[in-house]
Amino acid sequence: MLTSILMRALVTGGAGFIGSHIVDALVSRGHSVRVLDNFSAGKRDNLSATEGKIEIVEADVRDAPQLDFYVAGSDVVFHEAAIVSVPYSIEHPQETHDVNLQGTLNVLQAARRHGVKRVVFASSAAVYGQEPTLPKKESMALEPVSPYGVEKAASEHYLFAWSKTFGIETVALRYFNVFGPRQDPSSPYSGVISIFMTRAIEGKKAQIYGDGEQSRDFVYVGDVAAANVRAAEAEGISGNVYNVGAGKRTTLNELASLVAKVTGKEFSPKHEAARTGDIVHSLADISRTKKDLAWAPEVDVEEGLTRLFDSLRSSR
Ligand code: UD1
Repeated sequence: MLTSILMRALVTGGAGFIGSHIVDALVSRGHSVRVLDNFSAGKRDNLSATEGKIEIVEADVRDAPQLDFYVAGSDVVFHEAAIVSVPYSIEHPQETHDVNLQGTLNVLQAARRHGVKRVVFASSAAVYGQEPTLPKKESMALEPVSPYGVEKAASEHYLFAWSKTFGIETVALRYFNVFGPRQDPSSPYSGVISIFMTRAIEGKKAQIYGDGEQSRDFVYVGDVAAANVRAAEAEGISGNVYNVGAGKRTTLNELASLVAKVTGKEFSPKHEAARTGDIVHSLADISRTKKDLAWAPEVDVEEGLTRLFDSLRSSR
């Protein structure tokens, strides 16, 4: 285990939604943390909990020499920096390729040059594509249907190759639908939970695309951060990939009811045309993750919504 020693960690995208929660988890365990972010989506405010305890550098993963400079001295790199929107990747595939795939290669090359022990990578359930078999197991074929999914799948292949060929330890985590505090609700590409919470608080209705019986595996961001820490610590897992979900499905109709319950608002549903290309159901098989990482999700959807509601109230 790397646990017994304190790690010097670099978190790319560390000022973003998920990255900043990884930073919090690392700092609370006493590790030393450098955040690298270009602040295109990340915010300094996301790092207020660890102010004065971490180093923050403004840099872009596309800038290989600069990245190389900041990777130096790290034991482990958590590579979270990415353009996270699937629709944006469809409109701007070259740009998302440069950030999401070339950026990963830049991280791996710098990690190799500087003797970084392990790279933990933020992959996505998008690598599975639209094949309907559930639950998703890590051994299933990758059939990404968007540039974003291709970039995450190709990044996973780079990690695997680097672990076999260059002896650097790598672990890829396939995030399902992550939610929680600091997720930006304001973009048209935002996750449904951040959109629903904001609309409920503003007294608006739940806009549900389709009949609302589609379902997702919503996983709380604190559990995702914990999985990342375990992925850096666990022995004998180099080259592996792991699903990070709750292992449970929630329908959109159920979600709207839970949001109403948690916020105390009416939040009645307003059904609209189904979104083109929407998958119907998504669910992670998390048995491998539980076993190898000695990890389990601790915050269910209702508890996560409650925490999100509290954080939104205190920031308003
Ligand atoms: C999510 C990711 C996507 C990733 C995919 C992998 C986000 C924002 N998107 O897409 O990057 O590739 O998982 O499987 O995290 N919905 C509504 N009303 C709304 C918003 C959404 O009904 O106001 C519905 C959508 O039609 C969909 C569901 O909610 O059925 C979830 O949508 P969304 O949060 O965008 O996530 P995914 O589509 O699963």
